[in-house]
Amino acid sequence: VGNNLALTPPMGWNTWNKFACNVSEALLRQAADAMVTSGMRDAGYEYIVIDDCWQQGRDKAGNIYADPARFPSGMKALGDYIHSRGLKFGIYSDAGSLTCGKRPGSLGHEYQDAQKYAEWGVDYLKYDWCSTYDQNAKSSYETMSDALRATGRPIVLSICEWGLNKPWQWGTNIGNLWRTTDDIYDHWEGKKTFEHGVMDILDLQVGLESFSGPGHWNDPDMLEVGNGKMSNEEYRSHFSLWAILAAPLMAGNDLSAMTEQTRAILTNREVIAIDQDALGIQAKRVAKHVGDEVWARPLQGGGRAVVLLNRSETAHSVTVSWDMLNLPDQLDMQLRDVWLAKNLPAARSSYTAMVPSHGVVMLRLDYRPMQGAEK
Ligand code: GLA
Repeated sequence: VGNNLALTPPMGWNTWNKFACNVSEALLRQAADAMVTSGMRDAGYEYIVIDDCWQQGRDKAGNIYADPARFPSGMKALGDYIHSRGLKFGIYSDAGSLTCGKRPGSLGHEYQDAQKYAEWGVDYLKYDWCSTYDQNAKSSYETMSDALRATGRPIVLSICEWGLNKPWQWGTNIGNLWRTTDDIYDHWEGKKTFEHGVMDILDLQVGLESFSGPGHWNDPDMLEVGNGKMSNEEYRSHFSLWAILAAPLMAGNDLSAMTEQTRAILTNREVIAIDQDALGIQAKRVAKHVGDEVWARPLQGGGRAVVLLNRSETAHSVTVSWDMLNLPDQLDMQLRDVWLAKNLPAARSSYTAMVPSHGVVMLRLDYRPMQGAEK
């Protein structure tokens, strides 16, 4: 976009997956506090994003305002509070006349709204695609991108167009991330009318790898980790796959009431480091058999991150070979199991692990630091 933002995939929290329209300043403050006390801020999470339904209407001059019952202190005060916690403030609007939750959209008010967001201290805008009728997607997002730039405030633009008009083909100079699919729901696999389970979203990322990179990311939608309908095994897989895809990591659970297992998944530093790797290269599926898959991405320093995924209903072994990774057979690399946080014995040409049903084994291969004198 040229705004020099989101050079690694954005990390944060968003109200929608857990709270839908039940948003308030109390909820947002609580989330900001929990982000700090849970250790998530220190693990790299940054944006606290209010999704849909904060808006009440427009005044006579056309200025958008928040629901005064739910946001009695106003949006500027909320932004200040979030900033005082060392975090950044995100908000939601829509390119059409109405948002998906039927609140006022930004159509025809793009510059006025962008100005208002800047006054409130907004750092991130998620911009949705409901009630857009025959609008052109590219030019609609371009208008808001220009409006944000005109404020002079650095604001990340999240294009939430669900992949309908292939935003990966035109979004790079307009937004910092774009949704590639309809909405996620808290389910391992399956498809509802406008919603996909984790495995279905994963399949839809194949072929989009080359469009993602520093400053402009494919967005397979926000995390469901900790929302209760999947097992911890499945949540660990969901988080590992989003990390290897270089996806934005926007938590979507109740941060103030999460279990220790949920917290441990969301704050795993080694998994986050793979997501945030400076090269910003999205993983490819490098092997696919009935029930299991290998996903891999190059990392800075010449290494690789690997996910061995078992999609089947029973545990079985999955193998990655170095030739799947475009690496020569060798014993020069340190092999590490990321979730076990354990280095593994050197392997010359492949590694096989037992993977639980709906589970993953996540690996890192890194060139060892140069040794001194040879033995
Ligand atoms: C759309 C988006 C969701 C969420 C809702 C809010 O469905 O894709 O992520 O923002 O709208 O109404």
